[in-house]
Amino acid sequence: MSSEVTHSLITGAGSGIGLATARRFSQRGDALGLHALSHASEVQALAEAHRHAGGEACTFRADLSRPAEVEAFAAGALRSFPCLDVLVLNAGAYPRRRFREISREQFEETLRLNLLAPFQIVQRLLEPLERSPSGARIVFVASVLAFNGSDHGADYAASKAALLGLTRSLARELAPRIRVNTVAPGSIDTAILAQDTPERRSRREGAIPLRRVGRPEEVAAVIDFLTREDSSYLTGTTVHVNGGLRMD
Ligand SMILES: NC(=O)c1ccc[n+]([C@@H]2O[C@H](COP(=O)([O-])OP(=O)(O)OC[C@H]3O[C@@H](n4cnc5c(N)ncnc54)[C@H](OP(=O)(O)O)[C@@H]3O)[C@@H](O)[C@H]2O)c1
Repeated sequence: MSSEVTHSLITGAGSGIGLATARRFSQRGDALGLHALSHASEVQALAEAHRHAGGEACTFRADLSRPAEVEAFAAGALRSFPCLDVLVLNAGAYPRRRFREISREQFEETLRLNLLAPFQIVQRLLEPLERSPSGARIVFVASVLAFNGSDHGADYAASKAALLGLTRSLARELAPRIRVNTVAPGSIDTAILAQDTPERRSRREGAIPLRRVGRPEEVAAVIDFLTREDSSYLTGTTVHVNGGLRMD
């Protein structure tokens, strides 16, 4: 891949917030690395369209809840990106279960996907990130539930809260060359909300000061900002994108 353009890698780029971010990065002309699992054909289509428009793109498929697949994904990314400017750790899942129903294995699986995979990917890609001539930018995707907790997803809320500690630690340890920030979406209209009944949706919207759920593009816009020079004095911070649901 060429060295003048921004080289960006996104996990979970085939749907929702990740796809909106990938489209935005495509529009700004980045060289793209797009990861997906079940939405592999979507990232292939986007990569093809990006190449058709003169850009560079490669795709990856991996189940990031499996450490061996995370390792294979990271090894592939290392081959494709000797230098990496932007890394967005977006892939994640929210299995809804009451606390007393969560088995230790299920809790561990949530941690493997939402917390340990981001840790492992960043650690394996440190060298290409350190080679970024402009200073690399890492963005984690947490959740408002990292702050509010969840009464049907203690494992999810714990995994996302841990990402905040990881963000702050890496922001210190990798400074000044690499900036590390997190977005914490509230209720965003993606597959994650598809289980809502109409009643639950209306209760959800009623609790949000802006009286609607967010669009994935509204989170992608903030990720875009956090990966640009415009945010050059931000590191270790968490940006809420939640319509006022949580104000810190
Ligand atoms: N939507 C919300 O209200 C909301 C709120 C707070 C935080 N978030 C966070 O935002 C991020 C994106 O979610 P979304 O809302 O855009 O929902 P989504 O469309 O369901 O996206 C989830 C992404 O994670 C990937 N993924 C899930 N399990 C995976 C696995 N085992 N291995 C690899 N990739 C896996 C999916 O890839 P494939 O589809 O290709 O399998 C998908 O691209 C997640 O981290 C989520 O926790 C969302």
